[in-house]
Amino acid sequence: MQEIDINWDILERLRNRFLETGTQAGVYWQSEEDLVHYHTTFAARIGWKWDNALELAAQAGFQPQVRKIFDWGCGSGIAALRLIAYYGADAFDEVQLWDHSTLACRFAQKTIAATYPSLKVEIAPAPVLSDSESRSDTLFLVSHALNELGYEAQQQLSNQIRKAAQVIFVEPGDHTSSRKVIAQREALRGDFQIAAPCTQCETCPMLAEENQRHWCHFFGKPPIEAFTEGFWARFAQTMEIDLRSLPYSFLALSKKQIQSSTASRLIGRPRQFKGYTRLLSCDSAGLRELELQKRDDKQLWKSLKKEQSTLYRWTEIDASSGRLKSGEAQ
Ligand SMILES: C[S@@+](CC[C@H](N)C(=O)[O-])C[C@H]1O[C@@H](n2cnc3c(N)ncnc32)[C@H](O)[C@@H]1O
Repeated sequence: MQEIDINWDILERLRNRFLETGTQAGVYWQSEEDLVHYHTTFAARIGWKWDNALELAAQAGFQPQVRKIFDWGCGSGIAALRLIAYYGADAFDEVQLWDHSTLACRFAQKTIAATYPSLKVEIAPAPVLSDSESRSDTLFLVSHALNELGYEAQQQLSNQIRKAAQVIFVEPGDHTSSRKVIAQREALRGDFQIAAPCTQCETCPMLAEENQRHWCHFFGKPPIEAFTEGFWARFAQTMEIDLRSLPYSFLALSKKQIQSSTASRLIGRPRQFKGYTRLLSCDSAGLRELELQKRDDKQLWKSLKKEQSTLYRWTEIDASSGRLKSGEAQ
């Protein structure tokens, strides 16, 4: 990353705009330069989240079942780029892009076509409310765009997505964004199997009154350059973003049957105390705060401490105390 190429004023303007999400509607990309700057910085960071989300989805059995990608709210195209990088260009034939910014669509088209010349990359026609087009051949991607939508636009998006074969959302890891992803989950779960992060397809337990304070989030792993390159240090300082922490929410859906799991999903990070760990577990038993004493299962305790996985199988939970006694990473 060459610091010399960066116009910090552009990045600060974009950052301020992202912080105002929800209060301001409309297109904010002013020039191709905006998208170049976004793509090498904010979007790169979003790409690290995609890498992690795709790993968790694959671990839960998610695989592309169709050869066409539709990147909705594509911005600079990072979601499609990371998906193709993960599965390989041979897995796909075509990428369709949609963003209410024409500048963004064109930038993403140019970038994806240059990176993957074997793929057909097209800008989709603007969606219409009465859209009756079948999307049963399409894997739909929504990345850090749902969080910019008001209630009505979120509903329109659900209706558009409903016709897809598969869907992946990757959104910021804050409470509000996670709740918007959960709303999509509830709107779409009648039509899809949930591959990840949920280990069951019933009503999301986060929606229970007593769980309102929680949100469904995970942490990506930034690459080494985020800690070693001077540019990223300056980016983190100027933008006031802690690059060590990469929280995100995600949801991977598939129309076809995916084997249902009896595993439990670890939400957020386990909290370490002297001799024990507290964690938030989500599975068919609902959302539970569990506590594991180090002495009860040292290996599990170590695995939780090292954040080796977010998918576990709890093999023993004491029914009277609710204490987790043993389990293993999946
Ligand atoms: C923060 S950017 C994320 C871009 C890209 N998906 C990514 O992950 O880097 C949000 C994008 O959503 C687009 N967007 C916001 N509201 C939209 C709408 N109603 N219809 C289409 N695109 C929209 C914006 O123009 C912008 O490109």
